[in-house]
Amino acid sequence: MPNYPDVMDKLVSLCKRRGFVFQSSEIYGGTGSVWDYGPLGVELKRNLQDRWWNAMVRQRDDIEGLDSAILMHPRVWEASGHVGGFVDPLVDCSNCKKRFRADDPKIKGTPGTPDAQCPACGMKGTLSAPRLFNLMFKTFMGPVEDTAAIIYLRPETAQGTYVNFLNVQQSTRQKIPFGIAQIGKAFRNEITPGNFIFRTREFEQMEMQFFVEPGTDMEWFEYWKAERMKWHQGLGLAHERLQYHQHTNEELAHYARAAFDVQFDFGGTLGFQEIEGIHNRGDFDLGQHQKFSGKKLEYFDHASNKRYTPFVVESAVGPNRTLLALLVNGYREEAVEGESEGRTVLGLKAALAPIKAGVFPLVKKDGMPEMAHRIANDLRNAFPVFYDDSGAIGRRYRRQDEIGTPFCITVDGESAGANTVTVRDRDTLAQERIAVDRLREYIGTRIAE
Ligand code: GAP
Repeated sequence: MPNYPDVMDKLVSLCKRRGFVFQSSEIYGGTGSVWDYGPLGVELKRNLQDRWWNAMVRQRDDIEGLDSAILMHPRVWEASGHVGGFVDPLVDCSNCKKRFRADDPKIKGTPGTPDAQCPACGMKGTLSAPRLFNLMFKTFMGPVEDTAAIIYLRPETAQGTYVNFLNVQQSTRQKIPFGIAQIGKAFRNEITPGNFIFRTREFEQMEMQFFVEPGTDMEWFEYWKAERMKWHQGLGLAHERLQYHQHTNEELAHYARAAFDVQFDFGGTLGFQEIEGIHNRGDFDLGQHQKFSGKKLEYFDHASNKRYTPFVVESAVGPNRTLLALLVNGYREEAVEGESEGRTVLGLKAALAPIKAGVFPLVKKDGMPEMAHRIANDLRNAFPVFYDDSGAIGRRYRRQDEIGTPFCITVDGESAGANTVTVRDRDTLAQERIAVDRLREYIGTRIAE
């Protein structure tokens, strides 16, 4: 199995320098494990989310979209098991006041006993016995800050879907099997966040809950397992960097009857890590919400004259983590023949690249800037382009390579007379001469590949 290099530090630097991802509140020293998406990052994330929405909602007649609120009735989280069960055991050091997960491999000895050693300050006997810590962010609804007003920031979008199961089913007249998909923010007060945008405290999820007749759930589980792997491969992630991981009984979440992760190999010491979870949640969630709300969440199948609580097969993927996988997968440094300086390339699939084409006048005279502006303005109606006339042409190519722009269009000495330009391919470096009238169609077709 190839051992991919660790490119994380290089990516963090590229992402800041080129405007993909910035640390949140950086001028105040940053907020722990919270990140902002800059001009290129927001385009890339949106392209990824649109691709998911397209595949899951627009292209299918058996999945409906939903956008439920982040704030929900606090009983939702009691029913879902998050108030009681969404916990990590933590230990505190009474000397340096640092907090660790109880299973942190850096802790020597058993926390709570005199032999345990704090991994931060090195003192012995200062670590508390493990205490359970809930990962949900709490806040208050309304002006009174008492326990009756506690409300949570949702740790997953899925619960907003379950409580709307009947609203969606009845308003769309969908028949089982059918799914509900949504994209939205989720919040987890992670104890060991890190690895850039891999594990953060504020992130997004793209989740789809597929409601099926009990007994058909494992068939659908296998279907979605295969479908979702194909989707990740279709993003351009190297096939050999993707694998399934089956959850053991110890790993299974409280709601899951069966679960597989789709893992991506992030290289270095991080290696294979989850980017998506596919879960057979049975009737756990709808059953719990029926119990806690007292409202029936059943489905009546007219054809078979049967009434039942549907089972759920869930596909849950994080766009932030998948975006990181795309960056890691696409990042490469390479030598260029005949040039002393190498180049850095983000080999993003053209459909996902934030900018589809750079448009350059070879020199800033002879009408070339005017023609290049006209071309850029025309193409901008179809896809994002970037006009650049500063510096040597080689430098301009390199700047686009580094942000993953698949095509660079250059207006040169022949352009005005022949109404043609050169189009350079980011990966092959081949240059083709294309008629200006054909540019939209040419690039449009290549982006759709
Ligand atoms: N509704 C099921 C659920 O939330 P999960 O495996 O906890 O399942 C699904 O989360 C996906 O959400 C993960 O595969 C990951 O891509 C993303 N995710 C979870 N926690 C995250 C975090 N702290 N930071 C970034 N992404 C996260």
